Amino acid sequence: MTVNIDHFVADCVDAVASPGTERAIREGVARLVSDPQALMQAIGTPTRAGVKRIHVTDTLTIVNVVWAPRMTLMPHNHNMWAAIGVYGGREDNIFWRRLADDPLGRIEAAGAKSLGPKDAVPLGPEIVHSVTNPTAQLAGAIHVYGGDFFATDRSEWDPQSLEEKPYDIDKNMQYFEDANRMWESTS
Ligand SMILES: [Fe+2]
Repeated sequence: MTVNIDHFVADCVDAVASPGTERAIREGVARLVSDPQALMQAIGTPTRAGVKRIHVTDTLTIVNVVWAPRMTLMPHNHNMWAAIGVYGGREDNIFWRRLADDPLGRIEAAGAKSLGPKDAVPLGPEIVHSVTNPTAQLAGAIHVYGGDFFATDRSEWDPQSLEEKPYDIDKNMQYFEDANRMWESTS
């Protein structure tokens, strides 16, 4: 199988403009990660953690997310639908739910899902999750979002107090760089 990432982007753009968007995107992501080797020939084998922009508009974001070994991202929401497909390593998700009528917006753990290569899942707009790469290697995934991932207001939760606060995109992108430095200093 040969992967053409430009075709994948074009298919996603078409899906956003058509009925049944989320299902079409999820199926497209599932096909994309069904052959991880072919995908990595198209987008490269991960060499460092980061969030690489493949396509970003007001209605659609496609990113290649690479997690450093054993990196954990705090609970956060997206406020838009998403589809995640893993092509290397593993993404362990904890899913959270809001405590009813909590003035601090706190959350409690509600479920979990571990995603490995070839796994593709949809995430609804209300989902709150935290993500860990439990492996000793870089983990890679294609994330597709139904909006501008980098410019949409949303929330993150303090991992200790589990209190809600505004999502800080710059801090979280810096976190990937910090994870690289930590990884490079220990490997
Ligand atoms: Fe997320």
